[in-house]
Amino acid sequence: MTSPAKPSEPVCGFDLEHSWTEAWDFSRPLNFNHGSMGFTPRVVLARQEEISRRINAGREEFVREGGFSQLDDARKALAAFVGADENNLVLTANVTESINSVLKSLTFAPGDEVLVTNHIYVNYPALIDECARRQGFQVVKAEIPYRLKAEDDVIAPIMAGVTAATRLAIVDHISSPTAMIFPVARLVKALGEKGVDCFIDGAHAPGQVDIDLEILGAAYYGGNNHKWLCAPLSSGFLYVRPDRQAEIMPAVGSGYATAAHDFITRFSWQGVIDFVPRLMIPDTLRAMHDMHPAGWDGIYRRNHALAAAARRLLCERLGLAAPVPENMIGSMFTLPLGPIQFPPEEMEKSPLHRGYDALVKSHGFGAIFSQFGDDYIVRVTAHLYNKLSDYEALADALAAFIKDHQS
Ligand SMILES: Cc1ncc(COP(=O)(O)O)c(C=O)c1O
Repeated sequence: MTSPAKPSEPVCGFDLEHSWTEAWDFSRPLNFNHGSMGFTPRVVLARQEEISRRINAGREEFVREGGFSQLDDARKALAAFVGADENNLVLTANVTESINSVLKSLTFAPGDEVLVTNHIYVNYPALIDECARRQGFQVVKAEIPYRLKAEDDVIAPIMAGVTAATRLAIVDHISSPTAMIFPVARLVKALGEKGVDCFIDGAHAPGQVDIDLEILGAAYYGGNNHKWLCAPLSSGFLYVRPDRQAEIMPAVGSGYATAAHDFITRFSWQGVIDFVPRLMIPDTLRAMHDMHPAGWDGIYRRNHALAAAARRLLCERLGLAAPVPENMIGSMFTLPLGPIQFPPEEMEKSPLHRGYDALVKSHGFGAIFSQFGDDYIVRVTAHLYNKLSDYEALADALAAFIKDHQS
């Protein structure tokens, strides 16, 4: 390993060598993959255990004596955090539940189109194609380049995909394979002017960037709490604008999932589930806020500064060019690794696992990889437990990986 990166200018009072690593427990020495499932800090896990134990001591009592109002308080706390009116946001297990609820509730006329992009999360094309087959809509894909200079390069292909038949556009807030911040405010406005509703996939946005859902004004927004907010697993939400709420039912509904009930009530009882991840939302928001003296705003600014510095470091060390401008990344970024070739036996694995396993084998830590068009790309994340010199170790690991897999 080479010498650690030089301490940089302070961001919100800390240089980028300061980290909060001791607040988390990890099985690997370094982590650059916050994006897959997030990581919950120790203090929140301890509280989760305590609440779990309390509920288990009397499950019926919990539900009958205040459990509902605690769940509703958690929902309202999250709504306030993401700038949503409390009547417009419900809790779900994850974005997958949120997008299923929306897509499977909507009715389509023959010939209706749903617009998606090539930066969509890997599991959703199959889901959307299956909905299209059952519900009778056509899927249209906008091709957004991987290397681009400005937000307009995202907006133009999406708007070019709109036709008179476009009913809905499914657009990322921060894309999964390419880690790009999409200009969602501009997109919601431009698409709205063409009469097209948006489902914004915000799996990666809460906790990475400040969000105000009422100002954004999208018809539908699905978010995850278990990624960048660091909440326990199985915690997400769905925002639906008031003029679209009548149509939307939970993907998994129970006795309240009827047209006779309002949007919030429909999602209030989806059968017996583990209530604890939802109850943990206020504790998580507070615990994370309290870690940084400047609260969540300090976390956004510090993690973005670290991601930007790490990207510069990796580009310099590996001789790579960043694919998007710095204002289009939050706390994660991707880099194209050039022509990469794997031995035939590795080709049976998914593109993600090929690179991940190679890094773990050679250096004891992983990062997420994907094949995007002709590019084999690595996705790298920065959270409070990372510091700038961590990325020196990643640069060493990626340099060795590129050398070993050059075609
Ligand atoms: C952009 C995006 N959308 C949706 C998802 C699905 O999230 P979940 O499995 O929590 O529903 C992911 C997961 O990584 C994602 O990256």
